[in-house]
Amino acid sequence: MTPWWYTASITLLLSLRATAWPHWSFKSASFQPPKLKITQTGPTEPGFIFLGPRGGGIQPAGEAPIIYDNNGNLVWEGPQEPVSNFKVQQLNGRDVITFWSGETIPLGFGYGSVHILDNTYQEINTVTLTGHFVTPDGSQKDSYIDLHESYITPSNTLLVTAYNLTQQDLTSIGGKPSEWIIDGQFYEIDIATNQVINSWSALEYQDSIPLNSSHQRLSHSAGTQANPYDAYHINSVSSTNHGYMVSLRHMWSGYYLASDGSVLWQVSGDDGGDFRQVGQTNFAWQHDIRLLNETDTGMILTLFNNANTPTWSEGPSTGLSLAIDLTQKTVTGLRSLIDPNDPIRSASQGNYQVLPDSDGHVLISYGSTPKIKEFDGDGNVVFNAAFGTSNTVSSYRAFRSKWGGTSVFKPALNVTRNSSGIVAYMSWNGVTDYDSWSVYSVSAFAIKFQIIGSANRTGFETSVPLGNLSTNSIWVAALQGGQIIGISDIVTF
Ligand SMILES: *[C@@H]1O[C@H](CO)[C@@H](O)[C@H](O)[C@H]1NC(C)=O
Ligand SMILES: *[C@@H]1O[C@H](CO)[C@@H](O)[C@H](O)[C@H]1NC(C)=O
Ligand SMILES: *[C@@H]1O[C@H](CO)[C@@H](O)[C@H](O)[C@H]1NC(C)=O
Ligand SMILES: *[C@@H]1O[C@H](CO)[C@@H](O)[C@H](O)[C@H]1NC(C)=O
Ligand SMILES: *[C@@H]1O[C@H](CO)[C@@H](O)[C@H](O)[C@H]1NC(C)=O
Ligand SMILES: *[C@@H]1O[C@H](CO)[C@@H](O)[C@H](O)[C@H]1NC(C)=O
Ligand SMILES: *[C@@H]1O[C@H](CO)[C@@H](O)[C@H](O)[C@H]1NC(C)=O
Repeated sequence: MTPWWYTASITLLLSLRATAWPHWSFKSASFQPPKLKITQTGPTEPGFIFLGPRGGGIQPAGEAPIIYDNNGNLVWEGPQEPVSNFKVQQLNGRDVITFWSGETIPLGFGYGSVHILDNTYQEINTVTLTGHFVTPDGSQKDSYIDLHESYITPSNTLLVTAYNLTQQDLTSIGGKPSEWIIDGQFYEIDIATNQVINSWSALEYQDSIPLNSSHQRLSHSAGTQANPYDAYHINSVSSTNHGYMVSLRHMWSGYYLASDGSVLWQVSGDDGGDFRQVGQTNFAWQHDIRLLNETDTGMILTLFNNANTPTWSEGPSTGLSLAIDLTQKTVTGLRSLIDPNDPIRSASQGNYQVLPDSDGHVLISYGSTPKIKEFDGDGNVVFNAAFGTSNTVSSYRAFRSKWGGTSVFKPALNVTRNSSGIVAYMSWNGVTDYDSWSVYSVSAFAIKFQIIGSANRTGFETSVPLGNLSTNSIWVAALQGGQIIGISDIVTF
């Protein structure tokens, strides 16, 4: 897979240099997730790490939604395909995992659907978006949900982004009378029925969001259908007390919308937008604008400040936390997180996750630089994990979340003979809470429950050497606190 956020020529250049990154391999499963190179220098918040690695140098069997534990052991690997925004969310009061999968195109967006899985990893909803959308090559797609957002609202609807191509008179900004441009849209979709409940289009709000305030130059595109002008680049949307909060990357701005879609206010990384800037509030080419602690007089706004695109660098990327005061009309810089030992210029993607129940821990994913860092309340890095070669591997976003998974599938068992005898290898994809294994022999005369080996769980896969056996059939049981919670099929060897 080539990374999609680079222009074709940069992609070619970088893929030639892509080197193989170390990966796991197992006997009881075919997964090959990239190994995490972890440096931990302080206590982290609890939770597993959710990544969607993709790109050059990753084994095809490692390009998937992947859950790791804090030591970098695999916990779950999902369907082997490029995904984005793999995370834990709440649906109808239950924890679910969600991810987008589909086709990404070199213009930096995609067409796909959103998968919602319960805590046994069964897909309970597949959300799609159909309609009359225009694509760069004129082809039609099964679903037009873009890769950038898949946010479950408190009312159990799904907010997604979509990119539609259309023609506009761009003579006022130096363009052609009928120039191809990419509209930035979002849709609120009823998860159970796929019905669209609400939709929004940036092009319909040119009075509040004028095209001439885009930082993306018209000259970066040909203005053709194949290479249209990307004035907005919508990349996050979430629900708020009174409507929606939207991030338009190429405007360097976040917009607070009423539920009818009109713009109530704008915060901008260059001049503050509707707010007077106090302290460190500048940002550029941002991702992942979120609101916290919203009241009618103010709120906290967090974002990942890339400060870079593939073609333009403003400086190192930072994680920003800003206070919005609606009464005083100010935006005040609260936190600006950066690792002074490892400043990163992230050209695309990335996110800022405030870790819950913590005294200020934040997880930042650097998108096109395949690294995540956890900062503590004092802004010190306590955890760093790398998972690929920069600008060839990425994870659109990354998260740390508590998660409890069980499985409708049986534990997997592989029996292999090496020169010292029989070895049993076992794993149980996605099951978070089991601590040991027992190995049982199957007698030819009766199913005697005779334990012939046992071991504590070691990461994803555990092996037990069994020596030379008088039986040629065994099965294994996974245990938690001494209780059997799962059994494998009998394997004859
Ligand atoms: C067990 O693992 C070995 C080594 O990866 C493989 O060759 C063999 O096919 C596996 N056996 C089964 C039954 O999957
Ligand atoms: C996409 O743009 C085309 C014009 O190119 C327009 O006819 C169509 O209605 C738009 N679709 C949506 C969903 O906005
Ligand atoms: C941008 O366009 C608006 C009209 O849409 C105009 O009022 C404004 O002066 C323009 N700004 C710049 C900087 O050209
Ligand atoms: C948000 O509110 C919570 C609870 O009132 C408080 O503990 C926290 O400090 C607030 N967050 C910020 C960033 O002010
Ligand atoms: C498993 O770990 C416990 C301590 O956590 C230890 O007492 C026990 O001996 C271990 N069992 C095996 C089979 O290694
Ligand atoms: C056979 O496999 C077991 C379990 O992985 C290992 O402990 C043992 O060293 C291996 N023996 C040889 C000769 O490779
Ligand atoms: C198992 O048998 C092989 C020969 O078949 C022998 O080399 C090996 O030492 C035996 N292993 C054990 C643990 O007895």
